[in-house]
Amino acid sequence: MAFQQDPYGFFDEYKPKDTSQPVQLNLGFRRFFFCYDPQHAQHILQEQKHKYDKSSLVLKKIKPLSGPQGLIQLTGDDAQRVRQTSTKLTNNAGMDRLVQKVEGFVQELFPLIDRSIEKNEAVDLVPHLTRIVLRTAGVFVLNHDLISESDKLNAAFVDLNRKAGESLRSIAECPFSPAKKRSLNTIHAELDQIAEEALKDDEPSLLKALTNRGEDKSFVRDQLKAFMFAGYDTTASSLIFATYLVAANQAVQSRIASEAVRIPEMNYEGLKSSVFVQSTYKEALRLYPSAYFLPRETNQDDVVGGVKIPKGSQVFLSVRHIQRHPEYFERPDEFVADRFINGLKHPFSFLPFGGGPRICIGMALAKLEATLVLQKLCERYEMQAANPEPPEIEALITAHTKSPLPVFFKRRYS
Ligand code: HEM
Repeated sequence: MAFQQDPYGFFDEYKPKDTSQPVQLNLGFRRFFFCYDPQHAQHILQEQKHKYDKSSLVLKKIKPLSGPQGLIQLTGDDAQRVRQTSTKLTNNAGMDRLVQKVEGFVQELFPLIDRSIEKNEAVDLVPHLTRIVLRTAGVFVLNHDLISESDKLNAAFVDLNRKAGESLRSIAECPFSPAKKRSLNTIHAELDQIAEEALKDDEPSLLKALTNRGEDKSFVRDQLKAFMFAGYDTTASSLIFATYLVAANQAVQSRIASEAVRIPEMNYEGLKSSVFVQSTYKEALRLYPSAYFLPRETNQDDVVGGVKIPKGSQVFLSVRHIQRHPEYFERPDEFVADRFINGLKHPFSFLPFGGGPRICIGMALAKLEATLVLQKLCERYEMQAANPEPPEIEALITAHTKSPLPVFFKRRYS
């Protein structure tokens, strides 16, 4: 019941003082194990990965969002094929093109921010950051700027994320009543229409790459849906948190700005070499991971931290707690922007994108867009968060920010 009411708080409540053993809970015939330790993450995601599949319980709940054939649901050769196709799109040329696109999207925000300065008003950045992320996902997945469809698609995806979150917390196996299918139909209709048009041009995209490989139309649509679902609310939420943390910290902003002016050329290499903004974004992901738990299921018996985990058990890694583990992070609850410049004490203590063979396929893209947005904003403006508290979280299938992010701006250089 605690999990149903508040899955985010649930992980807090059941966290043991000593994390060396997983916590076991039984619900009916189902066995659940909750892991809070980087050692367990390493064991499950890497050392004994062959004993763990993705959780069938969670996969079933998100099937309508990811599509039955979407990468999230796939295994074996099918998964490998889609992962390879997607990875090819993130070569240097592909990423340079995305840098230019994202830079353009951020610049479109400047007139609105400049007007807010004249009027001495705060800007709620949530809808603007969300739109930038959705438009970037549109370019990567479809080579289509979703500017006119972004609000409609955003509402549909958030609605589905919420339905999936509710369904994860309920016993019911089929939460998608006809009324709830409305959002799904909106997404299908939009994607189909855009895909038909987008295939006519020659620019690279996931859609184009998969179609050129001769993949079946319904298989391709499931990939588009899976990538949009997995990629955009997660990135938007993490960018909103990162912007809040930066907007509440003047010294961090000026350091991001001075790092930005030292980049000789604004391209992917330049962005990757901006170590401070990279570290700042990672720190935001450490404190507020969008994917706050990693769900797995044992396909054979295993032992973790001395505890026997029988075949068929659900094993949930609490990413948020692992990333605030006091043994591996000094002052674990504090925002320390340059924390990641010197690396990690434990390779599995930082898992915002998962780990092992099914690590997030969009990790480079998420980092590119979030760090670029932060850099562009700080280069031109000083920011002041209007609220002292971080945005509120709604624990859906991923952690979704539900409150506004009002920020006051000032031009950095006259
Ligand atoms: C901050 C942003 C992001 C976060 C926090 C995030 C997080 C994650 C995590 C934790 C996983 C692994 C889940 C598991 O092992 O159970 C994952 C997988 C995945 N992500 Fe991301 N992701 C982000 C951005 C993106 C983007 C931008 C895209 C697409 C362009 C994307 C597409 C995917 C896909 C398709 C998978 C499934 C991969 C597979 O199963 O092989 N993600 N993501």
